[in-house]
Amino acid sequence: MDQRRFDARERARELAKESLQRGDALGWFESLYREAAGDTGRIPWADPEGHPLLLEWIARQPAPRPGASALVVGCGLGEDSECLAKAGWQVTAFDVSSTAIDWCRKLHRESRVRYEVADLLHPPAHWTGRFDLVFECYTLQALPETLRESASASLASFVAPGGSLLVVTRAREPHEDPGSLPWPLVRTEVGQFAGRGLVEREFEECESGHGLGPARHFRARFERPATVTAT
Ligand SMILES: C[S@@+](CC[C@H](N)C(=O)[O-])C[C@H]1O[C@@H](n2cnc3c(N)ncnc32)[C@H](O)[C@@H]1O
Repeated sequence: MDQRRFDARERARELAKESLQRGDALGWFESLYREAAGDTGRIPWADPEGHPLLLEWIARQPAPRPGASALVVGCGLGEDSECLAKAGWQVTAFDVSSTAIDWCRKLHRESRVRYEVADLLHPPAHWTGRFDLVFECYTLQALPETLRESASASLASFVAPGGSLLVVTRAREPHEDPGSLPWPLVRTEVGQFAGRGLVEREFEECESGHGLGPARHFRARFERPATVTAT
């Protein structure tokens, strides 16, 4: 167990608890990034290499077609966004925390990724149906259940016809207590993207660790059927 990461997660939980008690489900993210003051060791989900389950998925894919676009949701410090850009995607990455986005721009100075401040719950209208790949990792599980419906609707809405939504999340069984933040998702919560105009194409259960020991994860891909043009 990585002690610094453990401490970082405990601090995140404290900030989240205070924020949620004030009725502000999102404010703690900005507080955490600000308090970390540029020290990546104080961000519990930071991973300089990118998430192993994303890297593994990328390695299995053919190169994206030239100009294929990807959107990274709740991008944190941008490591996954950089991995997708290196793999050939034209990446837009966003986070609700302006400190996180400033940090991304400093951390990845030569980057081709377009980093933006935006809120998944109130996204820009021009993102609707625009992206060939949407990547979501750990944002849903950091939101209270009451906000996940709206967050999931936004996630699905970004996917272009023929495009995919790739989701990586901690997993639990329905009878298991979600415990304290992050709240692992059950299979049906992830599977509900299939009811939002997307079709489930891949669903895997995997073990993955982030310095806190291995934990159960789901990695799932949903696709929006390509529109058929009349002949
Ligand atoms: C648990 S972290 C995961 C970060 C990153 N995806 C990763 O796996 O390293 C969740 C991230 O989502 C961002 N976030 C939370 N709610 C958001 C929202 N409504 N809109 C955009 N970003 C959000 C947070 O600021 C934070 O960076």
